[in-house]
Amino acid sequence: MSQERATGPAQEIKVAEPNEIADGGSKIIHVQGRNIALFRVKDQYFAISNNCLHRGGPLGEGEVRNYEVTCPWHGWKYNLLDGSFSLIPTLKVKTYPVKVGPEGVFIEA
Ligand code: FES
Repeated sequence: MSQERATGPAQEIKVAEPNEIADGGSKIIHVQGRNIALFRVKDQYFAISNNCLHRGGPLGEGEVRNYEVTCPWHGWKYNLLDGSFSLIPTLKVKTYPVKVGPEGVFIEA
C-alpha cells in the first residue's frame, strides 16, 4: 500500500521584481498558506519562515547584520543561511530555496 505525500511537489513562485528589495531590505510574503520572510544581503537573497520560534514575532521586520536577523519582539537571532537560532543552532526556522534571475526573485515553496 502506498502513502501519498501530504503536500505536492515544490513550486517556484515569483515573490519580488528585480531590485524591488534594496540591499539590506526585506519583504514578508504569503505563499500557499505560509508566512515567509525574504531578505536581500548585497546580491544574495534568503527566504526563511517569518515566524519566530519564541512567540511568533515577524522575522521579516527584524534588523539584519552579518547574515543574521534579530527578531523585533525579544531579540532572538537567526542565521539567514540555514535558519538556525544563535543560542541553540539545532533549533531552526524553515528555509526556502531562492532563485534570482532577470525576471525577478523566485522561491520554492
Ligand atoms: S517572538 Fe521572537 S524573540 Fe520573542
